[in-house]
Amino acid sequence: MSGDLKQAYNLINILEAEHKLNREDWVFLLKNRGEDRELSEYLFKKADALRKRIYGDAVYVRGLIEFTNYCCNDCYYCGIRAGNANAQRYRLTADEIYACCDEGYALGFRTFVLQGGEDAFYSDDDICLMVSGIKERHPDCAVTLSIGEKSYESYKAYFDAGADRYLLRHETANPAHYARLHPENLSCENRKRCLYDLKAIGYQVGAGFMVGSPYQTEENIAEDLLFLKELKPQMVGIGPFIAHHDTPFKDMKSGTLEETLFLLGLIRLMLPEVLLPATTALGTIHPLGRELGIKSGANVVMPNLSPTGVRKKYLLYDNKICTGDESAQCKDCLSARMASIGYRIVTDRGDHPGFEGLSCQSHLNIC
Ligand code: 5AD
Ligand code: FES
Repeated sequence: MSGDLKQAYNLINILEAEHKLNREDWVFLLKNRGEDRELSEYLFKKADALRKRIYGDAVYVRGLIEFTNYCCNDCYYCGIRAGNANAQRYRLTADEIYACCDEGYALGFRTFVLQGGEDAFYSDDDICLMVSGIKERHPDCAVTLSIGEKSYESYKAYFDAGADRYLLRHETANPAHYARLHPENLSCENRKRCLYDLKAIGYQVGAGFMVGSPYQTEENIAEDLLFLKELKPQMVGIGPFIAHHDTPFKDMKSGTLEETLFLLGLIRLMLPEVLLPATTALGTIHPLGRELGIKSGANVVMPNLSPTGVRKKYLLYDNKICTGDESAQCKDCLSARMASIGYRIVTDRGDHPGFEGLSCQSHLNIC
């Protein structure tokens, strides 16, 4: 074994024991991951064991409702950017959102994630009404918002209306890299401000980034990991970048399965209790991406609860999976996929019988 590879194993041991590395060590480990599958397997075993020690065989589910694909921003990577004239835009009404939640509730979901583009059509009052409306109907459920950058006051109003959690990926912690992924009116600084505001208000917060986004370097990823360690979010969402054909990044290459899995393992060791989704993007680049994600340290899946009629319109990237399925199919499919690798789907507010004993014919295909 080369000296560098030996040092990479050593750094994984240190990360496991101390849950942190310095910048130089992160860069070294990321650069020396190489194609050594044994190093990755070594990491995944440790990440899986740590997660099992904390969470057992539980995989948490969050029902995702993509309620608007209008967006005033123009992020270069994103398929629903304002500049994409080919996107077919849609918005769900409050009643349509409640119907998704009711359907999800009957299927056993106890967390609803309302995700959308930055859409000024919905005022703060509209969002607050939707949040309180869901809480009234389903007081035992958590409501998560994922609607982008807002002011402290807006975040506070949503929180006071009953929102429990907020997902806002930081995208990249490096300002120069941030500027290569976004137009000038968006800044890394404001993104981070939002995340600290959300934490200060009392939300459970999710941050994260794309793996293999254009121009990303190992140094950038090291900065992402250091930022996450400092922020200590409750959730970290990472998935591979996948090009969308109607964006400026249409010819850029996608992030890889291997690198995404490696990062999931590292993040598990760095933040042992973190909620770590095996994302739809990971399931899109490999038919068993989500299963492999769980085996590398992830412990959350986010099945789609959006109405079938709009799913194909919420395309952040090409070839997104789960856009043709009913909510029940999606949930059954994921239950079967998790069962196939020895894990058990649970709701975050305790087990729900609705998730047990399900079968899925399609569980070895991309669904
Ligand atoms: N590929 C992968 N992930 C993407 N996202 C946006 N566009 C893409 C893409 N082309 C991610 C961003 C965003 C989240 C909702 O989806 O990280 O925060
Ligand atoms: Fe959506 Fe498989 S998870 S259909």
